[in-house]
Amino acid sequence: MPPSTAFPDDTAAVLEAVGAAARRYLDSLGEDPVRLPGADAAAAAFDAPLPEDGIGALRALSELEARGFDGAIRSSGPRMFHFVTGGGTPAALGADWLTSLLDQNSFSWVASPLGARLERLTIAWLKELFGLPASWGGVLTTGATMANFTALACARQWWGDRHGVDIAADGFGGLPAVPVLAGGHIHASAEKALAMLGLGRASVRRFVADGRGTLDFPALEDALRRLNGEPAIIVATAGEVNAGAFDPIDVLAELAEEHNAWLHVDGAFGLFARLSPLSAGLAAGVERAHSAIADGHKWLNVPYDCGFAFVRDASLLPRVFTMNAAYLPDPDDPHPNFGFLGPDASRSTSHPAPMAMPTTPSSWAS
Ligand SMILES: Cc1ncc(COP(=O)(O)O)c(C=O)c1O
Repeated sequence: MPPSTAFPDDTAAVLEAVGAAARRYLDSLGEDPVRLPGADAAAAAFDAPLPEDGIGALRALSELEARGFDGAIRSSGPRMFHFVTGGGTPAALGADWLTSLLDQNSFSWVASPLGARLERLTIAWLKELFGLPASWGGVLTTGATMANFTALACARQWWGDRHGVDIAADGFGGLPAVPVLAGGHIHASAEKALAMLGLGRASVRRFVADGRGTLDFPALEDALRRLNGEPAIIVATAGEVNAGAFDPIDVLAELAEEHNAWLHVDGAFGLFARLSPLSAGLAAGVERAHSAIADGHKWLNVPYDCGFAFVRDASLLPRVFTMNAAYLPDPDDPHPNFGFLGPDASRSTSHPAPMAMPTTPSSWAS
């Protein structure tokens, strides 16, 4: 590596040490159990008072490997079947490393043309993969929880519009409770998003036909009819976290159209059913929803963290998430400024960069 004047002397040594540590780790993946017997103790060992003096980059990193790696779950290994989460792929890992190297702020075009461009490309590719119309808006988030938050924030804005109130501008004051309807598969993260949005975790009315959480469709339809056209939000799940069940999205889309409801589809991992003709029928009708979400860090094997939210009415994203300040880009700037389309302002390219690389679902050790 050529000498660098811009960085401390040990930068090259740090990169070499990290490369060697990565090789040692990857070599061990084929043999190691997912969770080493000493994992808890290794993690617990990180407990010390704030040191007075630093130990230098190289020693700090070698201690992290020597003492810390035993506490890490081997998520990219061949035995990893933990919840619905995946590992990483070579291209995605490489892009993630380069993300740290470039250290871009993907808030805006002016802050990072590369970050903004990669995110726009990623969103376009994802819409194509999922069979969503190109006209839909989209943004990358840290995960499916924040994607649910983003999409449901747009649902809330839509609901406010129907009550003649711009909630992003003026808040909720004086408005009635928002009717939120779901089956039994609704994920805890959608409820958390509703809590964060001020709609209330407990506001969800669940219509459940059996012990497995199957949607009680006639009961939900009846509840919508009783609302007499009052706007409501339906939360459908494509891929229930315990057993992978799907709500009937196409029939819910029909109901939403008929009863003035916003249909949101939480497809954190299940939206990928749309990619194969063998499973596409499970998620039929997503393109008729008002919003849909998924993430890359589960079935796409992209390193954490990476979620994505899509909204049919693209104008809702900037209406909710725009920021105004003299030093920031003009809200009408024609360039992609994803900090205006989602909850985060400063944000790394760690979401779009690995996503824009070709990925395969293979694990390192296979
Ligand atoms: C259906 C569903 N939605 C949302 C989430 C939350 O995802 P994240 O952990 O990426 O926030 C999960 C996680 O398992 C999920 O299964």
